[in-house]
Amino acid sequence: MQAIDNQRITNYKRPSFVQVLHGQQTETTPVWVMRQAGRYLPEYMVLRRKYSFFERCQTPELATEITMQPLRRFALDAAILFSDILVVPQAMGVEVLLEENIGPVLPNPIRTMADLKRVHIPDVSDALHYVAQAIDLTKVALNNLVPLIGFAGSPWTIFCYMTEGKGSKTFDKAKAICFSNPELATKLLDKITETTIAYLKMKARHGVDALQIFDSWGGLLSPEDYQTWSLPYIQRIINAVKLEYNIPIIVFAKGASYALPELAATGATALGLDWTCSPQFARQMTQEKVVLQGNLDPALLLASPQVLEQRVKTMVSGFKRGQYIANLGHGITPNIAVEQVQRFIDTVKSC
Ligand code: CP3
Repeated sequence: MQAIDNQRITNYKRPSFVQVLHGQQTETTPVWVMRQAGRYLPEYMVLRRKYSFFERCQTPELATEITMQPLRRFALDAAILFSDILVVPQAMGVEVLLEENIGPVLPNPIRTMADLKRVHIPDVSDALHYVAQAIDLTKVALNNLVPLIGFAGSPWTIFCYMTEGKGSKTFDKAKAICFSNPELATKLLDKITETTIAYLKMKARHGVDALQIFDSWGGLLSPEDYQTWSLPYIQRIINAVKLEYNIPIIVFAKGASYALPELAATGATALGLDWTCSPQFARQMTQEKVVLQGNLDPALLLASPQVLEQRVKTMVSGFKRGQYIANLGHGITPNIAVEQVQRFIDTVKSC
């Protein structure tokens, strides 16, 4: 395959991300970037023109190569496996497409008990074997020098896509099912949860160093509904994984800072934050129970170098060293200049 070298990292060791998650002191603040492998990188765009999105996810050599791309440019403290949260519904028998300029499309969403019959709990080591293979290959490329993050969507966030059938600002069809047919909602969430548990255990077994659960649409729920439709399923995942593996788990519940105290009590090692809450607020809500991760507004990467540097410094000093991992408050967008990512990382390291 052209444009792929899967070259090993040989020149630096970056333990601080794992150290912070294991409660140890570090000399510098660890930093990584949500969606660090993505469209702002010219080398990603080369592979994007050649292979479809799910081809990139399902071909271990390609997934490894894309995972490694940002690490060749930047001194990031963690790699995150290139994949997508929507490989899980795919493995459960629901078709998922990624359409240009639209995003994810699920042509046959789950809206009725009859639809639910089409959804199964797969053997993940079969249906998602390509993810396990990508982990194995990526671990070799990372050469034990940089830790690897494995991830999954939260059951609620996966439920949103499976019922709505596409992205949405409100996911009101998904919510309508919870409010009008709670039995169906619960049964579907149960199936997603079981699959996700098996999936994350498989990742842990293949040696990822940490897991992140993306509850990207958690913040669309009211605080009361969050307790019903998202939190308990995340809790089940954490309990089940922790029972077998001593692996750090990061929960990123976008827009749901109202639920920080409950999330801190789940046994999660770290909580990801978006930019709508201050470091002081997040610490007050979680006390010393968890590591915090985040939370620069990705749009600040569009600001002048001076403004970016100043805001990164304010963020890092607001969180204080220890129990903290620097990141953006959500994924980096395609319109960001590579130099600004470099500046973001350098500024964190200078603090
Ligand atoms: O962070 C990384 O670098 C790892 C890779 C990763 C991707 N998706 C690759 C991707 C991760 C961790 C995800 C998670 C994901 N996928 C989430 C949760 C995180 C978040 O952003 O809230 C969600 C909601 C999805 C679903 C999804 N996949 C959407 C909504 C889209 C289209 C929107 C977009 O950003 O283009 C995708 C496609 C997708 N997943 C791309 C990438 C790099 C863009 C694909 C492309 O056009 O090349």
